[in-house]
Amino acid sequence: MNELEIIAEEVRRCRRCSLHKTRKNPVPGEGAEDAEIMFVGEAPGRNEDEQGKPFVGAAGEFLTELISMIGMTRDEVFITNVVKCRPPHNRDPKPEEIEACSPFLDRQIKAISPRIIVSLGRHSTSYLFRKAGLEFRSIGAVRGRIVEVEILGLSVKLLPTYHPAASLYNPAVRSKIVEDLLKLRREGTDLTKYL
Ligand code: URA
Repeated sequence: MNELEIIAEEVRRCRRCSLHKTRKNPVPGEGAEDAEIMFVGEAPGRNEDEQGKPFVGAAGEFLTELISMIGMTRDEVFITNVVKCRPPHNRDPKPEEIEACSPFLDRQIKAISPRIIVSLGRHSTSYLFRKAGLEFRSIGAVRGRIVEVEILGLSVKLLPTYHPAASLYNPAVRSKIVEDLLKLRREGTDLTKYL
C-alpha cells in the first residue's frame, strides 16, 4: 500500500468527529499519486456520500469540464476535500470538524507534493491560506490570483477560486471560475504539453 492508500484506509475507519455517525461513505479523495495539480473542495455532498468518491454530482460534472479545459483528465490530477465526510444536510463544516479532519489533507499534500493546488471555495481557501501563513478575508478578494506559498514545507502555487457548486445557478460565477482556471493553461511551463 502506498501512503495515499494508507491515508484512505484511515479515513474509512475514522471516528475523529461526529460526522462518522451520519455519513454513508467517507470520501478520502482520488487521483494520481504524482499529480501536478490538486483540487481541494469543502466536503462531500449527497452523491459523494452515496458513492464514496469526490465531486461526482452536478458540481463534479462542472469540475470535470474545467479539468478537461486545462487539457487534463480526472485521473491525472488529485481531487479531495478539507472534510472527508458529508455534513448533514450539506451544512458548512464546523471548525472542530475541519480541525479533526485536516491532518488527512495535510498528509495527502505531503505525499503528492503537487506543483499547484486549486482551492475551491472559501473553506478550503481559508484553510490553505492559514497553513501558508496568509491572511484570508474573502474568496472574492483572493480568487483568480496565483500565490506562491510554502505549505507544510513545500513550495506550492495556490490558485483560489469559487466553489463549482456556487456556479450552478449563477452564470457570472461560472465564467469567473473558467477565467481563473484558464490561468493554469498560461501559467508555468510543463503544462504546455497538454495544450
Ligand atoms: N462539493 C465539495 O466541496 N466536494 C465534493 O466532493 C462535492 C461537492
